[in-house]
Amino acid sequence: MTKPPLTLYLAAPRGFCAGVDRAIKIVEMALEKWGAPVYVRHEIVHNKFVVDGLRAKGAVFVEELEDCPEDRPVIFSAHGVPKAVPAAAARRQMVYVDATCPLVSKVHIEAQRHSDNGLQMIMIGHAGHPETIGTMGQLPEGEVLLVETPADVAHVEVRDPEKLAYVTQTTLSIDDTAEIVAALRARFPAIVGPHKEDICYATTNRQEAVKAMAQKCDALLVVGAPNSSNSRRLVEVGAKNGCRYSQLVQRAENIDWRALDGISSVGITAGASAPEVLVNEVIDAFRARYDVTIETVETAVENVEFKVPRVLREPA
Ligand code: F3S
Repeated sequence: MTKPPLTLYLAAPRGFCAGVDRAIKIVEMALEKWGAPVYVRHEIVHNKFVVDGLRAKGAVFVEELEDCPEDRPVIFSAHGVPKAVPAAAARRQMVYVDATCPLVSKVHIEAQRHSDNGLQMIMIGHAGHPETIGTMGQLPEGEVLLVETPADVAHVEVRDPEKLAYVTQTTLSIDDTAEIVAALRARFPAIVGPHKEDICYATTNRQEAVKAMAQKCDALLVVGAPNSSNSRRLVEVGAKNGCRYSQLVQRAENIDWRALDGISSVGITAGASAPEVLVNEVIDAFRARYDVTIETVETAVENVEFKVPRVLREPA
């Protein structure tokens, strides 16, 4: 039976960012250095395939520090943690390694610096996301005000409109964040913000690549996890920029083939925590059904790399 023709547009860049790559390396190196089990507070990165792989090697994933024994090392996830977490680990004299992405740590430092300078902090982010919890937790409870939408800006109650600063989650939609920042600046003209918003290079590049290919694709598939903020934003960016059908898939088995009936082009990208092996699995699933032609849509070249903490580079 002849297969119908299909063009697959592959976004570049896609998939793992430098922060995710480093966080996974940290767990692997900790297992090599200290042996199993090594505890990890929260999913090291938001991807079940990655987490299951590390679990098979001896990592134990828990949600709270209290769930870790004192005599085993613990690693904090790439999303960052409130200040109280390393402080509690130190009090319990635990060995801990912080896998917070350096670009998230940069936001933590910014928030602290503004607060030290007497400015009240506003965070643009998603309530309940571990990165938001971690960044807000750099300052005492109640000190950081959260806004999620332009509408929230109208209701936020500040101490002094002349003494305000904002930071953002690193994995937000660039366009939605620009609207929230504009609303903040309109209501609080004196507000201080980062030179460029805190949205990281990887989030920016993945969204730009999707924008560049959205117009030519009948459908967009984003390989990523439902709890991955940057992956979900890619689905939205695809939909907002002209893709008729935009879907998040964890694995090839999640592809809704019926929804793709009659299409002739599909864009594929992957969130920053989705490994390339899963992208290949999705491509193979298309090859099994279609006569596939692959075209890469490259909008940026990435060569960012972050070092792992020194404790893991030193011999045991
Ligand atoms: Fe870091 Fe951005 Fe990745 S903040 S973990 S480089 S998505």
